[in-house]
Amino acid sequence: MGDFSGVFYTDTEHSIKLLQGSCIEILNNQFAENTFDMIFADPPYFLSNGGITCQSGKMVSVNKGKWDQTKGAAENHKFNLEWLKACQRVLKPNGTIWVSGTTHIIYSVGFAMQELGYKILNDIIWYKRNAPPNLSCKYFTHSTETILWAAKNSKSKHYFDYQAMREQNQGKQMRNVWEISAPAADEKKFGKHPTQKPLQLLNRIILASTSEGDWILDPFCGSSTTGVAATSLKRKYLGIDMDEEYLELSQKRLKEVVTLL
Ligand SMILES: C[S@@+](CC[C@H](N)C(=O)[O-])C[C@H]1O[C@@H](n2cnc3c(N)ncnc32)[C@H](O)[C@@H]1O
Repeated sequence: MGDFSGVFYTDTEHSIKLLQGSCIEILNNQFAENTFDMIFADPPYFLSNGGITCQSGKMVSVNKGKWDQTKGAAENHKFNLEWLKACQRVLKPNGTIWVSGTTHIIYSVGFAMQELGYKILNDIIWYKRNAPPNLSCKYFTHSTETILWAAKNSKSKHYFDYQAMREQNQGKQMRNVWEISAPAADEKKFGKHPTQKPLQLLNRIILASTSEGDWILDPFCGSSTTGVAATSLKRKYLGIDMDEEYLELSQKRLKEVVTLL
């Protein structure tokens, strides 16, 4: 990978790079077509609407930050179309993309994927046994997220490590319902990202869909859970985020993981 603007951190020896800015602009302006083997995207869920939730037994605001405020259904969909299009261009012909989301965005993401000609391979139901209770008592407790897995287009011959997934599932074919807990305290020792994903989730995704040495992109990298998992599994990693504070957190986590290799 050559020279870029917006570079926040580089570790050439371990093929790690963090870029600061809008992922749409960076991908459209700085990357050639067919660059990445796999993309994991955890975009804004647009759920920071002033509501409440429960955290460690306390009532807290659901607001994650300005980047997560809704712009209305039509604008949110336009944004999903734009970044998914930018990702599709830089994905290799046989590459795949994983996108996580809740009900707030996942239907828009799925529709945008269909509009762009991605081939949807699976919808994974990520079940969180330790999800917080619903304080309003007007709904069922939210305890799942959906992760869509898609190939670049209908011609793609996607990679799937069936055996590795079977081994992780006591020798039985793995189903699309994954029970994985929220990140452990140790995963937050360098600081907290409000929507940090568990390492176990990214380890599974990376093992299922990539080989050693593959390039993995996370266009909304936050604390770089994807990068930590990618580096520990000997894959190459490029993370993009607009927020300096999250990139600093990413950098701390990535600097630690290379000492453990
Ligand atoms: C849901 S969080 C990702 C959390 C991450 N998966 C983790 O484990 O820490 C989404 C991230 O996208 C960033 N973001 C929002 N809009 C962006 C954009 N247009 N380009 C790049 N980053 C963006 C936010 O700053 C936030 O850190």
